[in-house]
Amino acid sequence: MWDKLFGSKAPTGENAAQSPLYNDIDRSRLPRHTAIIMDGNGRWAEGKGLIRTAGHTAGVDTLKQVLKVAIDLELPALTVYAFSTENWKRPHAEVDFLMNLFSDYLAKEIDEMDEDNVKLRFLGRIDELSPALRKQAREAEAQTADNTGVHFNVAMNYGGHDELIRAVRAVSGRVLSGDLKPEDIDEACLEGELDTAGLPPVDYVIRTSGDQRLSNFLLWQTAYAEFYFTDVNWPDFTPACFVKALREFGNRDRRFGGLTKK
Ligand code: FPP
Repeated sequence: MWDKLFGSKAPTGENAAQSPLYNDIDRSRLPRHTAIIMDGNGRWAEGKGLIRTAGHTAGVDTLKQVLKVAIDLELPALTVYAFSTENWKRPHAEVDFLMNLFSDYLAKEIDEMDEDNVKLRFLGRIDELSPALRKQAREAEAQTADNTGVHFNVAMNYGGHDELIRAVRAVSGRVLSGDLKPEDIDEACLEGELDTAGLPPVDYVIRTSGDQRLSNFLLWQTAYAEFYFTDVNWPDFTPACFVKALREFGNRDRRFGGLTKK
């Protein structure tokens, strides 16, 4: 119904933020940090008799639309899972395809992101990507470093276990150098070494395509996150689907281990 009313594209133009698509949203109850597992590209393509990589191409368009909604609604932070440390197990041709897709996406979108005041950050082992992609990623981060709008984080060659091990190593290094006492290690200390340092904790995880698991995504950051699962495959996840998920977040009763406020 929503798609029929609003189409499959995010509103555009100067007054996009005032679009009727956003009418039912309580802007005071939006997540500070939304994390999305963009799953189902392969299934979407196979369902249409296409090769799997066609699903990834279609998924890029979905990502652009979802980022536009985040900009319109002034979400503080959006993190997407683009490539996990486990995704290297996929066929070589698919991995190559994805890496080229990420590079094309950056080349085509970075100026518009910059104009939209988006601050881009990459999470994960960027140092293990090809030198060209690594350079492109770091330049894109530098270009948007002073922006103050949506913090848009792309997890690429990212694994939650790997991130925690890297953080523990960094903290251990500080202990060994005498900069930090073991008894002074606290949550803030570890958080400061995570790829997400400085960002709010994740309070909403959205996963498309029916599976209900975290897949090694932001393990520390999601400690008190709410979860939203939908059967919709990522390429079919329209702005209206995203807005519906965001409205649902506003209805959640978040207690953080305490009791509901009366
Ligand atoms: C999961 O679908 C998706 C991925 C592993 C890649 C995600 C990449 C995109 C959505 C492209 C856009 C991203 C950027 C950063 C430009 P799957 O292949 O696991 O689908 P399946 O579970 O149906 O096989």
